[in-house]
Amino acid sequence: MTDMKEMIRLSSIKKNYGDVKIIKDLNFTVYEGEFLTMLGPSGCGKTTTLRMIAGFEEPTSGEIMLNEKPVSNLPPYKRKINTVFQNYALFPHLTVAQNVGFGLKMAGVPKVKRGPQVEKMLKLVQLEGYGNRKLDQLSGGQKQRIAIARALINHPQVLLLDEPLSALDLKLRKQMQLELKRLQRKLGITFVYVTHDQEEALMMSDRIAVMNKGHLEQIADPRTLYEQPKTCFVANFIGESNIFYGKVSEITKTDTKVTIENGYLTLQSDKPVFEKQIVNIVIRPEKVKFSTTEVPGFHIPATVAEHYYAGNVNKSVLRLPNGMALKMTSAGDQKLPEIGKSGFVYWELADAILIKTTSDDVFKAVDNPDFSMVNQMGGD
Ligand SMILES: Nc1ncnc2c1ncn2[C@@H]1O[C@H](COP(=O)(O)OP(=O)(O)OP(=O)(O)O)[C@@H](O)[C@H]1O
Ligand SMILES: [Mg+2]
Repeated sequence: MTDMKEMIRLSSIKKNYGDVKIIKDLNFTVYEGEFLTMLGPSGCGKTTTLRMIAGFEEPTSGEIMLNEKPVSNLPPYKRKINTVFQNYALFPHLTVAQNVGFGLKMAGVPKVKRGPQVEKMLKLVQLEGYGNRKLDQLSGGQKQRIAIARALINHPQVLLLDEPLSALDLKLRKQMQLELKRLQRKLGITFVYVTHDQEEALMMSDRIAVMNKGHLEQIADPRTLYEQPKTCFVANFIGESNIFYGKVSEITKTDTKVTIENGYLTLQSDKPVFEKQIVNIVIRPEKVKFSTTEVPGFHIPATVAEHYYAGNVNKSVLRLPNGMALKMTSAGDQKLPEIGKSGFVYWELADAILIKTTSDDVFKAVDNPDFSMVNQMGGD
């Protein structure tokens, strides 16, 4: 992306509310025309970051650049940024057309000129002819589209969207995801989008910034995040994961052996690790396989514990000797091993994702109920 123009740059951004450090040293760049999503759990600082970009909040320290110029002293209305808020923030006493045309009116555009532009915007969001309606005559999805039309009418360089679809039902949300993405491509406007829905983020974004407790865990395109998560947090937050905690016990020319509580795992020899290193190994459930006979390189016995039918896929739980529950996903039409059956788990060596860890991570992992399948190793 280095040949692309920088639209927004956050450098060493910190934000405190009183003594509480809400944002801790945030650094990232958004490029022109990019669809960047900030993804993270509730309270991790997504809205706070968006509000700083828009200018509604000042960072405690650090610098925000817009178009390669610092914006610290620029009030929100002077930044070529519009925001679509989670609750739409439409004016209930105005008509649809008055809502959409509001930004132009504020900018002093005469009424005769506003009309055609409002119509054009309504067409863009597929609400042609709705101009005279009152807001309470609209559905949630329609209101959402009005909010987007209103934010787009004065051609912002950047549109900030804070969980714009969270109030909609699943079907409408899916439809609006596609519409928004189409709109963004068509207009070429830079989008900074906030959601805590990982599927939505994967579908819509050019890149995703995964945030956790006020810091950036990883920023990358959706496929890289899924296939090469850098932290256990990312591995768990994006898709489902099985996470093993182990210690590198042997490195040979052909492979690397990691001892885990349930036996050992083999890794491809290209992994940059050293002996005795503590590591996490992530296996996605769709990569896990079950065999009634032992597979070379794998020595992890397992018993089939549960199956759940989820339409296009089957979700199974395999129980390992220490009680660890291993998630396995298989195609919905595939024949499943019987409950109670004993065998072994395995996967393609290349499917094991290595995550380097520190002992601090280990304790976090053990304390986190989402990581209940992670087992701390005994011994030294
Ligand atoms: N004005 C404020 N004063 C004090 N604390 C605040 C203020 N605004 C936000 N916070 C705190 O900052 C943290 C981050 O809030 P923020 O709204 O940015 O989270 P978020 O990632 O948008 O979460 P959500 O997904 O729930 O919207 C929270 O712990 C919140 O309580
Ligand atoms: Mg928020």
